[in-house]
Amino acid sequence: MTPATTAASPYGTLPAVPPPASRKPISLPRLREMHAQGEKITMLTAYDATFAAVADSAGVESILVGDSLGMVCQGMPSTVGVTLETMRHYTESVARGLHRAQATAWLISDLPFGSYHESKEQALRSAAVLMQAGAHMVKLEGGGWTADTVHFLVERGIPVCAHLGLTPQTVHSLGGYRVQGKSEEAATTLKAHAHALQDAGAAMMVLEMVPAALSATLTKELTHCATIGIGAGVGTAGQVLVLHDMLGMNLGKMAKFVHNFMSEENSVRGAMQAYVRAVKEGRFPVDALHAW
Ligand code: KIV
Repeated sequence: MTPATTAASPYGTLPAVPPPASRKPISLPRLREMHAQGEKITMLTAYDATFAAVADSAGVESILVGDSLGMVCQGMPSTVGVTLETMRHYTESVARGLHRAQATAWLISDLPFGSYHESKEQALRSAAVLMQAGAHMVKLEGGGWTADTVHFLVERGIPVCAHLGLTPQTVHSLGGYRVQGKSEEAATTLKAHAHALQDAGAAMMVLEMVPAALSATLTKELTHCATIGIGAGVGTAGQVLVLHDMLGMNLGKMAKFVHNFMSEENSVRGAMQAYVRAVKEGRFPVDALHAW
C-alpha cells in the first residue's frame, strides 16, 4: 500500500496517520496500557462534528468537549455560565461527527459548573446525560471534595477524568487564571487531592497551570491515573490544548503555555498532526517556554 503523503514541518516530517479502519479504537484499557508503557497521550478539545473528525484523522487519541466552549464558541467571559443542556448539545454533535467518520478517539465531556456540586446523585444524573449524548468519560473539576462523587460514578461504570490546579469553574474564588501549587503548602495540598482522586478511581487527571516540577512528581506517583497537562510542563503522561488556541485563533492574549501549531502548517489537519508528533516525542511543551 502506498503510504499517505508526508509533509515537512519544523516539528519534523509528519507521519501518515492510518485510516480509521486500520486503527484500534481508544478504550479505557488502551489508555491504561499507553500510560503504563509511557506512551504520551494526546488530547485536544473539539466542539463540533467536523473538527472532532479531523482531529481523530490527525491521530489525536482523546477529544475533550470542554466547557471552554462557553468562552470560545459562546463568547462568555468564563466557563461558569455553561449549562448541562449546552454540554449535551455539543457532546452529541461531536459524538455524531466521530461516529460518521468511523473515528477511534476517546470522547470526554465536561460536567459543567453546578451540575455535580449538590450531591453524588445529582452528579450521576448529569453524567448520565453526557454519557447518553455519546461521551465515554466525564471530567469534573475540584479536589478532595469530589472524591466521593468520583468513586460513586466509577462504581456505576462511568469513567472519570479529574481536573486539578487551575480549575476555571472556580476562577472567581482563585482570583484569576493563575498558576496553582506554587508554594510548598499549596503543592502539598494539591498532591493530597491528586492521591485522593486516584484512590477514588479517576483514570485520568488534567493538571492545569501547575509548576512543571510538581506535575512531573505527581505523574511518577500516580501510577493508576494518567496526568494530562496544560501549562504543566512536559513531564505529564499526556497533553491537552484548547483547539482554538493551538490553531492561533485566540481572541484575547495567548497564554504562555500555548503554541500556535498553525503558524508552521498550512492545514488544520497538518497543525494537529504536528501537535500529536511533538507531544509523542516529548518536544511539546518546551518547559523553558511553556511552563513555570
Ligand atoms: O474546558 C476545557 O477546555 C478544559 C481544558 C482546558 C482542559 O477543561
